[in-house]
Amino acid sequence: MTTELLARREKLLGTGAPLFYKEAVNIVRGEGVWLFDPDGRRYLDMYNNVPCVGHCHPHVVEAMYRQASTLNVHSRYLHEGVLDYAERLTNHHAEELASIVFTCTGTEANEVAMGMARIATGGRGIICTDAAYHGNSAEVGKLKRARDGDPEIRAIPYPQRYRPLREVASESELTDLYLSEVRRAINSFAANNIPFAGMLVCPILANEGLPNIPNGFMSQAAEIVRDAGGLFITDEVQAGFCRTGRWWGYEVMDFVPDIVTMGKPMGNGLPLAGTVARTELVDTFRDQKRYFNTFASSPLQAAVGMAVLDVIETENLRENVAHVGEYLRAELTKIQPHCPPMAEVRGHGLFIGLEWVSDSGTKTPDREGATLLVNRLKEKGFLIGSAGSLGNVLKIRPPLVFTREHANLFLTAFAEIVEEIYGTAP
Ligand SMILES: Cc1ncc(COP(=O)(O)O)c(C=O)c1O
Repeated sequence: MTTELLARREKLLGTGAPLFYKEAVNIVRGEGVWLFDPDGRRYLDMYNNVPCVGHCHPHVVEAMYRQASTLNVHSRYLHEGVLDYAERLTNHHAEELASIVFTCTGTEANEVAMGMARIATGGRGIICTDAAYHGNSAEVGKLKRARDGDPEIRAIPYPQRYRPLREVASESELTDLYLSEVRRAINSFAANNIPFAGMLVCPILANEGLPNIPNGFMSQAAEIVRDAGGLFITDEVQAGFCRTGRWWGYEVMDFVPDIVTMGKPMGNGLPLAGTVARTELVDTFRDQKRYFNTFASSPLQAAVGMAVLDVIETENLRENVAHVGEYLRAELTKIQPHCPPMAEVRGHGLFIGLEWVSDSGTKTPDREGATLLVNRLKEKGFLIGSAGSLGNVLKIRPPLVFTREHANLFLTAFAEIVEEIYGTAP
């Protein structure tokens, strides 16, 4: 069956269409934190952040069905449900982030954010990190390929403690070291007569590998950017919606950005994303761009987005994430001394990164080791992934309804595999 599906997939979708795991998983059903294959074998989903309130949550499914059975049109009509959702969502943000442009994907939300910053500042230059991913359109994709030398993009080395740009004596020096890279990028725009528009960054540096970020970097970088006339954008496509145990990654970093983009978990699987900002920024953007997106800002998106917020609030998922995430990190940290390749246990809430190295002295990244572990866990029925600029960070990011009992199932399997591969029993 799997072989046949693989052959059909290659023919129909092309040979380059990405798949996870050495032996691909065929999934036919999802429920809560569980995914099921055609034979009824279940996998504990510890990877997917899109179905944030759990796969096929009945409240979300019901809201989707009810709205689709009532009305679904584009956004050029009045519809109270869209406004109710916009109001409830922006109320979860800092007070000044009061208006929103809805989109369907995180890429579009970042495209809107870049446009908004460029229109508001009259600038063009955008700073990102050197291992960022913010989306796949021509404009947003330039951030991923920043090293290609697009004149309007500058990539700074992403701030981290584990493999610092240079060994320095203190945490504050490390912060300053990375802040000087922000200043350097701004100066480089000025030297090339490219007016500066701002900086776009994931507040927890998720795709970079969830590094421990030197204290105060984000808030101080935002100040430097604003002093230079730019706007600071955080991409909450991964960090947002309680993933970190706070509503937004910018809260973890203790500052308020000018523009925030959201996506993935927002619709629990329905394409729903958006860009929130101060009202005057949204007004100017709309005035200049006349932005329209057929499927965005629809009654269906609003009903589903609203249902997701209902579940997060009524099931106390933010609190759940904070508690279970802390527990899982603490238990993994106990395994660490028995597992030489596990150099760091990092992350926030239910977003955990394990730095995998072949030599802790030289900090040599062990991509193969990470891949082996991901595949062995899959064979045992646990789905995680790997990430990071070097591909050697184990990525644990289950739906927000993940409990302590689920964590314990995983910890047992993880310890068994560590013993099997490395011969060291926790
Ligand atoms: C941080 C971040 N921003 C933006 C995106 C793009 O979102 P989408 O795939 O919905 O366009 C991604 C996708 O992985 C992402 O990880």
